[in-house]
Amino acid sequence: MTDLYDAIFRRRDVRAEFTGEPIADATLERILTAAHAAPSVGNSQPWDFVLVRGEETRRRFHEHVAIERETFASTLEGERAATFSRIKVEGILESTLGVVVTYDAERGGPAVLGRHAIADAGLYSSCLAIQNLWLAATAEGLGMGWVSFYREEFLQELLGIPASVRPVAWLCLGPVTQLQEVPDLVRHGWRPKRPLAEAVHVDRFRVRA
Ligand SMILES: Cc1cc2nc3c(=O)[nH]c(=O)nc-3n(C[C@H](O)[C@H](O)[C@H](O)COP(=O)(O)O)c2cc1C
Repeated sequence: MTDLYDAIFRRRDVRAEFTGEPIADATLERILTAAHAAPSVGNSQPWDFVLVRGEETRRRFHEHVAIERETFASTLEGERAATFSRIKVEGILESTLGVVVTYDAERGGPAVLGRHAIADAGLYSSCLAIQNLWLAATAEGLGMGWVSFYREEFLQELLGIPASVRPVAWLCLGPVTQLQEVPDLVRHGWRPKRPLAEAVHVDRFRVRA
């Protein structure tokens, strides 16, 4: 149990610390096996993992993300704009590979047990696979960074993902020089973490001022 808590608290979203060194095949297999062991609504296992190593594909995605970064930056003003300008939001080219995790709403259908009232339960399942992957990568001494600065249609086109399958995340994965102790967004003054006590409610949800 100590090992699990250790991985949970050491895990970081990594952007700047990738070395680009290779990952042993057996290590990658263990990490993907951990992701594939995630719980899923109706045991639908709606995820797939696209391993992206090709330089040209990564370069094209990197360019797209740079444009989306600008799109977001253009919505900011003053201190927010200045703070954001100092924050790196991806390590697409520096990481060893990209792992794109997808969500297929048709997997396990048409009657997915447990999804009739909450369609998002399928998407949650793919996110749990991602979290397993993240923690397993951390336990293996690797780093991972989640990139969401993209348009889903662009990534579908880039990787040949069918229109009915949603790309949920581009994960930058690989060896790192270190895992930061403090999250980048906290260190750079974008947004602090909030205390657990603020997130816990007893018996009823209490709306806080
Ligand atoms: C759904 C999701 C999308 C994210 N997208 C990005 C992203 O596009 N770029 C980035 O640098 N970090 C991204 N992150 C990482 C968060 O910024 C990070 O988890 C948060 O700042 C807390 O830091 P920590 O993960 O190191 O604790 C994303 C995280 C999640 C869960």
